[in-house]
Amino acid sequence: MSQDKNRVIVFDTTLRDGEQSPGASMNIEEKLQVARQLARLNIDVIEAGFPIASDGDFEAVKRVASEIKGGPSIAGLARAVNADVDRAGEALKGAEKPRIHTFIATSDVHLEHKLRMTREEVLERAVAAVKRAKQYCDDVEFSPEDASRSDIDYLCAVVEAVIEAGAGTVNIPDTVGYSTPQEFGALIGALKSRVPNIDRAVISVHCHNDLGLAVANTLSALQNGARQVECTINGIGERAGNAALEEIVMALRTRPDLYSLSTDIVTEEITRTSRMVSEITGMVVQPNKAIVGANAFAHEAGIHQHGILANRRTYEIMTPESVGIREHKLVLGKHSGRHAFDQRLKQMGYELSKEDLDRSFRRFKELADKKKDVYDEDLEAIVSDETHSIPEIYALQHLNVMSSLDGLPAASIRLKNGDTTKQAAAIGVGCVDSVYKTIDEMIDEEHKLVDYVVRAVTGGTDSIAEVTVKVSDGSNIYTGRAATLDVVLSSARAYLQAINKLVYYQQKRTGKREGGTV
Ligand code: KIV
Ligand code: ZN
Repeated sequence: MSQDKNRVIVFDTTLRDGEQSPGASMNIEEKLQVARQLARLNIDVIEAGFPIASDGDFEAVKRVASEIKGGPSIAGLARAVNADVDRAGEALKGAEKPRIHTFIATSDVHLEHKLRMTREEVLERAVAAVKRAKQYCDDVEFSPEDASRSDIDYLCAVVEAVIEAGAGTVNIPDTVGYSTPQEFGALIGALKSRVPNIDRAVISVHCHNDLGLAVANTLSALQNGARQVECTINGIGERAGNAALEEIVMALRTRPDLYSLSTDIVTEEITRTSRMVSEITGMVVQPNKAIVGANAFAHEAGIHQHGILANRRTYEIMTPESVGIREHKLVLGKHSGRHAFDQRLKQMGYELSKEDLDRSFRRFKELADKKKDVYDEDLEAIVSDETHSIPEIYALQHLNVMSSLDGLPAASIRLKNGDTTKQAAAIGVGCVDSVYKTIDEMIDEEHKLVDYVVRAVTGGTDSIAEVTVKVSDGSNIYTGRAATLDVVLSSARAYLQAINKLVYYQQKRTGKREGGTV
């Protein structure tokens, strides 16, 4: 791939490596929603999944490949085996710009204990996989997994051989997040000077964050000649996560004096992308997280506030606007009609089906009746609440909660489950606890609450309360999310949504339910 020598290719793997974080799994509609937003962010390459991993992954890559046009390349991951490469090739058929990303480990510890193969065998497999992938598309990427712990002479030999076989990108992963900036930069420098045909490929890096060094390692690699970065939104990913896209991109933008490198990312879309990924995956962003944390641009100390008022540059190295943080903007009111609502959602980048739009509009009208000002953040919360694709196996019909200073909080709830109606009442230590205990009495399937987070979408006591919960069935984690003006109602709806997901996927796995979107 020919490229401007100062331009960095941004390869987003939120839908593949990011989705591998415990509890971050997304269904196809959710993956498509994220992929559309990644396209608006102007990502160069979207890694949409690992097609051989499951039918759901295959379908997701296929849908992203056929629906995201006119911008990013779409990549599918494949181990260096024929079946994987063929499955990735098949899933990517509809893509305008397909890329097969094939990989095999090159470190001795992986060769000996995982692959049980010799170095020669691994090298042969790598070359064969690249050649096979080339039969499906011209754009082929190869990764020597655990590169940072591989023998450097052997790594150079593998990289040279895969480039010879046609790989246009060689991606150097720090798979276990073991390396440090100086060492990782030197590794990239060594590959650049020692591999004779290295100029025929783009050097990419893929860093994990086990020592908290993923972004630092990535930046050091760029200073030593890498020109593609693999990263995820909010840094989600296996274990401690992957390098965070927003941190790499904003470091390059904020320090051109140091790097002289640029990306084509529309940085003003960063905040919205971060929120969307957080809402969909239920992976909450820590408040002090760089760039996208709630406090990242908040100046609390009096002396800082004084400086900021005098001149923003005293304490601000980048503007909130540059990452898309806006003042809460009044967008619609109680008299706004369907057309204005539809137009605003389109401007915000949402493309809803007619049913989703109808439901979201009804919710907007209800909200506008109760709450004077409706902001973009409210609309985002409503849309995300109304566009999940899981059937309501247990539907909330009635909810009553009582709480007083000296009494015990009590809830009574009625649920509809197919043709039957169930009702129960229970007390708890607080309102939410009493609601969850009451719901538990009516659910047959084993489930355990593992996480509960509540967030006020805008400021003020009339803010929408967005609740995200996670429930586990012992082996998988399911996320539920709801946004209403009432924190107890949001809590009940989010819990039921997570339980509905759990039941839905269990039924699919055991063959009790067919079709649907996974
Ligand atoms: O971390 C890793 O090594 C990977 C490869 C598949 C690139 O995710
Ligand atoms: Zn990885």
